[in-house]
Amino acid sequence: MIPKLGPVVAIDGPAGSGKSSATRRLCEALGFVHVDTGALYRAIALVTLEKMQARQSAAAAEQITEEDCAGEVARSAHLEFRRVEGKAPSNRIFANNRDVTEFIRSPEISMAASRVSAYPGVRAALLGLQRRLGCVGKSVLEGRDIGTVIFPDADVKFFLLASVDERAKRRLRELTDAAKKTGAQVPTYEELREQIETRDSGDSTRAIAPLKKAPDAIEVDTTRMTLDEVVEFMTQKVRERLG
Ligand code: DC
Repeated sequence: MIPKLGPVVAIDGPAGSGKSSATRRLCEALGFVHVDTGALYRAIALVTLEKMQARQSAAAAEQITEEDCAGEVARSAHLEFRRVEGKAPSNRIFANNRDVTEFIRSPEISMAASRVSAYPGVRAALLGLQRRLGCVGKSVLEGRDIGTVIFPDADVKFFLLASVDERAKRRLRELTDAAKKTGAQVPTYEELREQIETRDSGDSTRAIAPLKKAPDAIEVDTTRMTLDEVVEFMTQKVRERLG
């Protein structure tokens, strides 16, 4: 295991539990670096579909095999986060030197990312990168297996959750807002609810590194909490633990 050069915070939880927004705000409050590990799996899913010359669709996502994504793609794709001032979000993800930030948030890529993330070869290929990104210290990694597999020795661990209904509502709001700019078609509430349940079950039942609360993680049920309340609670806990 690579030694940590400073404090590492692990945040795990299912899709739509409020992890990304809370992590972004927590990083601002603490001056820590944000490592969105889901974006790495999403980028691998995107590069794989492009290599297969498949359109982004649920059917294409279901066809991705381990050979399609784990070998050459996951091992040789060059993934990095770069801060780009004046562009929102400023923490952008590059795959093979191309800014793919805008292309990895569609519901189809969500399904494809969930699929590729279940393959052991993909998880193994991304393990070292996640540890290298985090071990510099003063970092917050968000994902599914940060507190259990990537940084079992993280200084503070959180596990965020929320009811399926609340998470579907949040996704609908996000996609509706985004569609105002892009004109993209927005799935219905029922479709989003179903996608979340499918992803939850895939992420929690896969054989390797399933979504699971680490025994020493602080559980935060965000269903009835505002984002401000979540961030305040987490910031206080980190300050208490790190002294
Ligand atoms: O957090 P997200 O929705 O952007 O993640 C996309 C997918 O990647 C998700 O379905 C599960 C997977 N993932 C994972 O398996 N392990 C992580 N550490 C992060 C994400």
